Amino acid sequence: MSERIANAELAAKVMSADEAAEFVNHGDKVGMSGFTGAGYPKALPAAIAAKAKTAQGAGGEFKIDVFTGASTADAADGVLAEANAIGFRTPYNSDRTLRGQFNQGEAHYSDIHLSHLGQQVQQGFFGTMDVAIIECTKINEDGSLVPSSAVGNNVEYADAADRIILEVNSWQSLNLEGMHDIYAPEQLWDRTPIEINDVGDRIGETFQRIDLSKVVAVVETDDADRNTSFKEPDDVSKQIAANFLQFLEDEVAAGRLTYDNYIMQSGVGNVPNAVMAGLLDSKFENITAYTEVIQDGMLDLIDAGKMTMASATSFSLSPEYAEKMNEKADFYRQHIILRPQAISNHPEVIRRVGLIASNGLIEADIYGNVNSTNVSGTKVMNGIGGSGDFTRNAYISSFVTPSVAKDGAISCIVPFSSHIDHTEHDAMVFVTEYGYADLRGLSPRQRAEKMISVAHPDYRPLLREYVERANELGGHTPHDLATAFEFHTRLAQTGTMKK
Ligand code: COA
Repeated sequence: MSERIANAELAAKVMSADEAAEFVNHGDKVGMSGFTGAGYPKALPAAIAAKAKTAQGAGGEFKIDVFTGASTADAADGVLAEANAIGFRTPYNSDRTLRGQFNQGEAHYSDIHLSHLGQQVQQGFFGTMDVAIIECTKINEDGSLVPSSAVGNNVEYADAADRIILEVNSWQSLNLEGMHDIYAPEQLWDRTPIEINDVGDRIGETFQRIDLSKVVAVVETDDADRNTSFKEPDDVSKQIAANFLQFLEDEVAAGRLTYDNYIMQSGVGNVPNAVMAGLLDSKFENITAYTEVIQDGMLDLIDAGKMTMASATSFSLSPEYAEKMNEKADFYRQHIILRPQAISNHPEVIRRVGLIASNGLIEADIYGNVNSTNVSGTKVMNGIGGSGDFTRNAYISSFVTPSVAKDGAISCIVPFSSHIDHTEHDAMVFVTEYGYADLRGLSPRQRAEKMISVAHPDYRPLLREYVERANELGGHTPHDLATAFEFHTRLAQTGTMKK
């Protein structure tokens, strides 16, 4: 038996990915591990895609419904989408081919809060889960699993599925063992409080128990996670980060935050990494994170002794930092806890710890309604991810965004959001390269002024023109419904929101 597969019963089920794919059938609901490009199955998706192509080539049909933690990678969503093998997908996707299929109506997508999906699967909202395909670092002697670089919905999928296929990935560091905190809330209607009072509290086990009798195949892999490199932050990202840090400083000055109690939640990307770089040189100490993903900047903060503890459900690291994680996982596991996404994103815990949420957006309107998902209200980009879990429940909810997209042809601040994921009741602070708009305690008319002050100067006159027109029509939240989407209609007609 190998070091990685220490259970005899499961060692006897080792087979090739192609053989394991025989347990996946057309129409199956398949729950996969994987979150933000980490911990997804590396071999089965390609084998299932090949099976789909063969079936389709012979004039048959082959599509599966894919449930994951969040986004995966070319080796998972990518190959399945290329093979036209996905009929339905949830809860979050960043694969461009698959996105195209959603927007063409060729595949169905249900965009669901990341903390909700596990429970919805367990409660049968989607019917029976046929197969769970779960990547792990190691199978222990008793058959329990040492999870890999993402926990996601693995617990719920393995519990709900009729059959389980395990991928044991020897690229993942054995030193990840001990980093995870696997805890499943009691089933409805016997729930008790989730006893996480501080970011670093552990309430579960370091391994995942599964029903061994459901395991039909074990596949060995040795492939790296997706690990996308981040671009070096440009001047705009750096300025947004500087404005966000100024906002934090102003919170300290106002007595609403101290230099040693900043609890971070952060979306992924260049602006968040620029914020973390700025925090390295700031007065903030003892920073903690109750968030979804561990990013490069967090490892830097941990290395510098600035961040003491980070709780998440997965990694989203560049190749260089993933290598560092694999080399120093025994050190990082003293500062990092990976939990199921139902817990990393749990509203109860988010509200209790009092974190400051910070996420990206597609557009926001002058009253603070946020569109995170649908370009011009119709074409889905990625999905809501965990932004709703955090925005609704954070102590302070902020959004960071460049004021414009597509070289200035699109204003990210518009009269009326063309799709609304986060309402004016949840979103509090908006940060662009022009400063921050603090909407807390303001009426809609007061909010509009603040939002326009952080819009791109090219769009401020157009936004003011709209507000004047809307104000003349009156109302608590003034709108001129006939022209509320004029920015979007102009974009569709002329290629720019500018007049
Ligand atoms: N209209 C059209 N396209 C827009 C746009 C708008 N108003 N705003 C941004 N975009 C495009 C950008 O041009 C860019 O396109 P490209 O990939 O072709 O270059 C893309 O969206 C990404 O924008 P960027 O400015 O690089 O920001 P980002 O990487 O932070 O992404 C979101 C912004 C909204 C797409 C991203 O934050 C997201 O998916 N959010 C929802 C989920 C979430 O918040 N997750 C974190 C929760 S824990």
